[in-house]
Amino acid sequence: MNVLSTKDFTREWVEEIINGARTQHFPIAASRARARAHSQGNPLPRKIVLLFIEPSTRTLGSFSEAARLLSADCEKIVSADATSLVKGESYANTARMLGSENQGADVLIMRTKIEGAPRFTAEILKEAGHKTAVINAGDGTNQHPTQALLDWLTISEFLAKTSDFTFGIVGDLAASRVAHSDLGMARLMGVRKVRLVSAPEAKIQPRCLRGFEEVVEGDSLEVLSDCDVVVVLRVQEERYTDPVALQRIKGRFRINQAVLDGFKSGVIVMHPLPCIDEVDQAVYADPRWVAFKQAEFGVPVRMATIRDSGAKLEVPVKVQTDPSDYVIPYEILKKPATGASVKKKGREFQYFRPITRGLIIDHIPQGQGALVRRLFDKVRQDKNTVLHLVEGVPSQKCQSRKDVFIVEGSVPNDGFMAVICFLMPELTVNIICEGTHQKVMAGLPKILKGILVCPNPNCVTNNDPEAGARTRFLKTEIDGALMCHYCEREFSRGELLATLRGRAS
Ligand code: NCD
Repeated sequence: MNVLSTKDFTREWVEEIINGARTQHFPIAASRARARAHSQGNPLPRKIVLLFIEPSTRTLGSFSEAARLLSADCEKIVSADATSLVKGESYANTARMLGSENQGADVLIMRTKIEGAPRFTAEILKEAGHKTAVINAGDGTNQHPTQALLDWLTISEFLAKTSDFTFGIVGDLAASRVAHSDLGMARLMGVRKVRLVSAPEAKIQPRCLRGFEEVVEGDSLEVLSDCDVVVVLRVQEERYTDPVALQRIKGRFRINQAVLDGFKSGVIVMHPLPCIDEVDQAVYADPRWVAFKQAEFGVPVRMATIRDSGAKLEVPVKVQTDPSDYVIPYEILKKPATGASVKKKGREFQYFRPITRGLIIDHIPQGQGALVRRLFDKVRQDKNTVLHLVEGVPSQKCQSRKDVFIVEGSVPNDGFMAVICFLMPELTVNIICEGTHQKVMAGLPKILKGILVCPNPNCVTNNDPEAGARTRFLKTEIDGALMCHYCEREFSRGELLATLRGRAS
């Protein structure tokens, strides 16, 4: 079982972990025998490797204490400098070793700034036939799923409920993996009302807000006045390379006694810690501030998660994706006409000669034809195909000029067609095959693979060649946006196109 992202969780599993942590591991003096009694037949891990190549105090400490209480051998690697990663070894090969038969771990717990690295690692280990479970202990700005679990144990301990409350978060939402995981958990558990406070530059991506009934966003603490739970987050300074961008969001919100008094009575104020300067120290003594107790829940939650790693949450690693996920829906705009070769005339001149087999991509926005050609070159298999690019053709449809790209001799693969139609929805595709001509519109399959590059420089696909070769995007509910399978970020058509323009040369 892997624990990679709150997006993979089920409500039943979360409840089991929370109850497991609460009832079976309090007090923490749980012995291995006791833990075994509760492992419900799943083998307890023998060896745990903690690969922490980003700093940590609480998460590292609580995972290692949880491992000790479960009597597992625990190897800690707390710096990339201590691994061959520093020599340039890939994540994939590091993972193959850390999960290998003779020296590998039963559970690999990873913290890294590379987003999606835990999911990628889990895929690599599964493909290599290892049973190692991967637990994500924080991957860059993406996810921190066990933090969300311990946050929900805290809420359930203090409010005696896991939904049916108003949930607020304040701070650097955009760069916080805790915000991403907590919002995923809130949606899963059935929380309906969410309040979010941040500097406008640090707002959360809209994808994280889908599925809630009532969302209020703002840059004033008043937005939090009806919250039952407020999570305070620090500014993730280490993730900003631009000092100007950092200055815009630093020091914007500070929780002091007066702010607390403005909150609803009965509120609990949480913080994943470390707390830098966003909370006045006087607040530490206030009973509404529960962050230090919250941190204590790290050990039982991580014990329950490790203990469960033998089985249960059997979802996240889809090595063999359903082939139908890749099927491109085609809409035939014009029925095949037999015997017709295509011959079109621009206003002033005939811009391509008739062909009997191939593809004509028409209505490409002027100036984009060269990009289409470069992208085609990347997927081209049949080197004998003849390519023609006609630029600046007068067009009635585009009401100005357009580019036309012609592939003569073969019909390109579906992946190329899907990506091109996604990137430039205004274009028209003519397929000419054995004398028939059909005009088609290619829709989006559930998963898009090939050509596209993730615009997020911290995504594992841009930091590991094997991961790069697997880059894939999932269709979202928003037309013209795709989600990276690894870093979980969503990108608009324009952002994906811009990355290609930069790299297609
Ligand atoms: C958080 C993290 O690492 O994401 N800390 C933690 O695990 N308790 C929060 C943070 O660093 O701001």
